[in-house]
Formats: sequence, structure tokens, C-alpha cells
Amino acid sequence: MKTALVTGGNKGIGHEVARQLAARGFHIFVGARNRGAGHAAAKAIEKNGGKATFLEIDVADNTSVTATARELAKIADHLDVLVNNAGIMVDGDDAILKISDDIFRKTLETNMLGALRVTRAFEPLLTKSKAPRVINVSSGGGQLTGGADGWAPAYCISKTALNGVTSQLAAALPKFAVNSVCPGWVRTDMGGQGAARSVEEGADTIVWLAADAPQNLTGKFLRDRKEIPW
Ligand SMILES: NC(=O)c1ccc[n+]([C@@H]2O[C@H](COP(=O)([O-])OP(=O)(O)OC[C@H]3O[C@@H](n4cnc5c(N)ncnc54)[C@H](OP(=O)(O)O)[C@@H]3O)[C@@H](O)[C@H]2O)c1
Repeated sequence: MKTALVTGGNKGIGHEVARQLAARGFHIFVGARNRGAGHAAAKAIEKNGGKATFLEIDVADNTSVTATARELAKIADHLDVLVNNAGIMVDGDDAILKISDDIFRKTLETNMLGALRVTRAFEPLLTKSKAPRVINVSSGGGQLTGGADGWAPAYCISKTALNGVTSQLAAALPKFAVNSVCPGWVRTDMGGQGAARSVEEGADTIVWLAADAPQNLTGKFLRDRKEIPW
């Protein structure tokens, strides 16, 4: 059975990705901090006939991440797909020079370093897959092309850095497909209810990269199943 770990899989875009991959036959590991929401998300997937297991993980904490990787290694002999979807936005509309080091550290710790340390910890299990895939859920806000517009600088810089992680991992892991995705502006707790896209639309390119895209598509930044500039 194909297996996929989706961090931040207990709500929002991550939960929709988990739901769709489960419907396509993947055993889903729902990774998140909130146990109640995590167990409920796994239960909802199982209720619809899918296979899902909640795994408690804090991507901002290396001890938590390595412990979760050991736990998964006890219940699965390989991991086909890792979706680094967990993310936070804590800087609001403050201008870059008004943002504290703490806000920058917190944001980078989760959005950039989190994805890197989760990939590092699960790499041995991913290597056991015939076609390992890592999908980093980034944002158009992290694009350097076209310049910044001043919105959420810490968040945007963390996604620029995450895109750097994608590019470096693609070079370091030639048998893997490693890509960044911009899901668009999506109606979730983070995106707000005024956002343009449904979670189904936000999840589409992520699910495509997880299940359908060619394995030799790697080291790219995509939106709507098409490459976009960094
Ligand atoms: N919504 C948008 O418009 C939009 C646009 C572009 C990109 N994105 C990106 O898409 C991804 C998902 O966003 P969303 O809108 O679905 O956000 P969301 O509804 O706020 O969900 C965020 C998820 O991340 C998890 N998470 C946060 N910190 C974590 C940590 N330290 N360890 C483990 N899990 C953690 C949360 O679960 P717990 O709190 O239980 O841990 C939750 O499941 C993010 O990377 C975001 O930056 C979103």
C-alpha cells in the first residue's frame, strides 16, 4: 500500500490533501500538534473508507520530529510521499523593519527549517520507496520574481527560504522528486473566508505531484500544475 505523511494534515489544505490521497488508496499519516483535531481528521478519513493514522509531530522541534520518525518506522516499512504542509503566519501586516527577531525565528523555524528537518528525519523511510516524492507547500508570497509588495515579510521570506530548501534537496536527492507548490489564496484558518480558492482547488497541484506527476519533475516551483518562476 502506498503511504503518505502530510504535516499539518488535521485541517485546512493539509487535511484536504490527506482526504484526497486516502481516496486514491494511500495510507495517510496525519501529522500535527493538536491531538484532538488530529485524531478527528484521521477518523473522518477512515469513516469515508480510507486508511489514516494520526501522528503527533511538532515540526519546529527536532526531538519531536525524530521521535515521530522512529514511531512511523515501527508501523510502516516505507514512505512514498512527504507533504511538508505545516505552516504558520504570525507577522500580520507589520513592515519588515518593525518585525522582531523572535517573529522571524518562529516563522523560519516552522516554515523553512521544519520542512528541512522533517525531510531529513524521514529520508531513510522515503529511500525505501520505489519513487519517493517530497512536496513543500510554499506560497507565491515567497517569489522573488516581480519583487515584494510589503505584505507579511517574515512569512514571505520563510517561503523564499523554503523554495531554497526545495532546490537544494532536489540536487541532494536525485532519486526523489522534490518540488514547491503555491496553492493559491485558499479559504482556511490562515487564508480567511474571503480567499479566492476552495481547499479542493488549493490541494489539486499537491495531490497531482504526490500521485500523478512524472517522477523526473523535480526541483521546480509550481502552481496549477505548471512551473512558475522562483
Ligand atoms: N491558505 C492560504 O491561502 C495559503 C496560501 C499559500 C500557502 N499556504 C500554505 O499552505 C499550508 C497550509 O495552510 P492552511 O491555510 O491550510 O493553514 P491552517 O489552516 O492554518 O493549517 C495549518 C496547519 O499546520 C499545522 N501546524 C502549524 N504549525 C505546526 C507545527 N509546528 N508542527 C506541526 N504542524 C503544525 C497546524 O496543525 P496544529 O496547529 O495542530 O499543529 C495545521 O494543521 C501552509 O504551509 C501555508 O503557508 C496557504
